[in-house]
Amino acid sequence: MSRPDRPDRPHPEPGLRSITFRPDECTTRVPAGTTVYEAAAWIGRAIDSTCGARATCGKCRVRLREGELLVTPADHEHLNSDEIAAGWRLSCTAEVQHGTIVEVPRLMTAPKTAMTGTGRPVLLDANVHKVHLRLDQPELDDQRSDLQRIRDHLRAAGFACNAGLDVLRLMPAALRRHQFDVTAVLCGEWLIDLEPGDTTGECFGVAVDLGTTTIVGTLLDLNDGSSRGATSALNAQVVHGSDVLSRISHTMCHPEGLSELQAMAAASINGIIDTLAQGAGVPRDRIYEMTVAGNATMIHLLLGIDPEPLSIAPFTPAITEPVFLPAADLSLTIHPRGRLYALPALGAYVGGDIVAGLLATSLPREPRLRLFVDVGTNGEIALGSDRRAVCTAAPAGPAFEGAEIACGMRAVTGAIEEVRITEESVVLRTIGERPPVGLCGSGLIDAVCQLLRRGVIDASGRMLTIEQARRTLPPSLAERVVEVDGVRAFVLAAGERDAKAVILTQKDVRQLQFAKGAIATGIQVLMKEMKVSADDLDEVLLGGAFGTYIHPAAARAIGLVPAVSLDRVRAVGNTAGEGAKIALLSTRERKAAEEMPRRVEYIELSGRTDFNDLFMAALAFPPPRC
Ligand code: FES
Repeated sequence: MSRPDRPDRPHPEPGLRSITFRPDECTTRVPAGTTVYEAAAWIGRAIDSTCGARATCGKCRVRLREGELLVTPADHEHLNSDEIAAGWRLSCTAEVQHGTIVEVPRLMTAPKTAMTGTGRPVLLDANVHKVHLRLDQPELDDQRSDLQRIRDHLRAAGFACNAGLDVLRLMPAALRRHQFDVTAVLCGEWLIDLEPGDTTGECFGVAVDLGTTTIVGTLLDLNDGSSRGATSALNAQVVHGSDVLSRISHTMCHPEGLSELQAMAAASINGIIDTLAQGAGVPRDRIYEMTVAGNATMIHLLLGIDPEPLSIAPFTPAITEPVFLPAADLSLTIHPRGRLYALPALGAYVGGDIVAGLLATSLPREPRLRLFVDVGTNGEIALGSDRRAVCTAAPAGPAFEGAEIACGMRAVTGAIEEVRITEESVVLRTIGERPPVGLCGSGLIDAVCQLLRRGVIDASGRMLTIEQARRTLPPSLAERVVEVDGVRAFVLAAGERDAKAVILTQKDVRQLQFAKGAIATGIQVLMKEMKVSADDLDEVLLGGAFGTYIHPAAARAIGLVPAVSLDRVRAVGNTAGEGAKIALLSTRERKAAEEMPRRVEYIELSGRTDFNDLFMAALAFPPPRC
């Protein structure tokens, strides 16, 4: 249950303006200059629109009740002078500059919603629209151009339309071959095709979580928001290193490195699109748009933009803005004139994947104070509520991925993912229930947590010597404490027949301490910045492919997350993928994503004078809880 708001929580920034929507009486605070439409999207209020806030449909009108909303040219175009005098404004051009109250008319049609993986319903409002056109054929007394004929029809339906040369070239034949009975496909305001007859029932998009290691794609029906399939594949770039710095280094050391990595990302995504399209029986040319959420390096590489400045202080990305461009420019094989939208980033190390996570969890848009941690090589952390939200990135290193761990491995078949140590035995659970061959990240955390509980490791991370183990542990555990090449280790699995033993060494424990220490420090810095403590947290959300599999109790036991009750720790799954889906299904949510950089403050850890002290303190493990 959410606890009452504490009076000592920080107050909103002075630059924020309040806006109240009637008749619901819901209020939010937005930066000055935010449009009324964007403010409504930020808190999930539905305002009518078919043009996606491009000031062309005229449907987004609201009535000013208190405050001031300056009259814009778009108001004059869509509203008459009496309406303007009565306070009506187009919400997509009206900017909030002062405290404002507006009244929102009832929607003409009940909005469709789609349920997301995080359990949040999202208003279905895709950027792709298909409009069936039965156009009047040209006559001597109606010599409008083909484009004008289409535009007139679309404008009446509330859509603006621009057409590139490639569509203009196919337009005359497409119209005449099909007796001017066609379906216009709009991606945003771009006319990308004229399909014969009525094809409005077939409208698809692909949402992509472009991870450094794994790429996940979901095919969505844009008419109803349903999923038509999901699949994942290894990012082909992994042959050039497992982390972003190795990929950047590849582009720096090889003249063709950047184009090679760009092609690899595109090929991996195309493989996913192929699998999805074939699996669902959907032709690729019915997939009109794709959204991509990825960290800044992955997005730079996909776009073919030099990522080198991301790796050198002061760590400057070429772009953090959202990108909307023809997918074919990147050799991505959806509809030949389909488009790609990449979510914006907050900084060099808090990328579009985290913006997607914030979209999926709604962290900066809800009153509850929540901590979101995406655990990985680069730990991304956000803390806040609709009052204020901050974020940072903590360099955790590769331990959570199983790298630089003696028996570490990725979370694949045979990896130990769960460890339970009793007085008598060690019980292991492996992925695929196969004989254990190594330890993945969640298994590593579990193993250390259990060894702490049994006293094999102390709070400083030090493992018992063989002699100490014999004196203090039951024999069945003491015999598992060994030395390998002079390094203390605990045998998790002895290795039967040809199988290798799986051990956890003292060095592995230190690696985990550094990784969890970095993330715990990031969390501490954000909590200090917000002047809150663990008791104030309404919820701790563990995200990312890895965060999903960490056992909350183990994460708390090793001090990876603050000491809150376990019912307040929740795994939220692949939030980057969820955010990409949400952005594909809803232009309003895209606007909220684009608002994140203005609403979520980035805190740079390397510039903090208290970083070292906090980091050293965070290396120790908390005392075991009973
Ligand atoms: S005119 Fe279409 S949303 Fe404002």
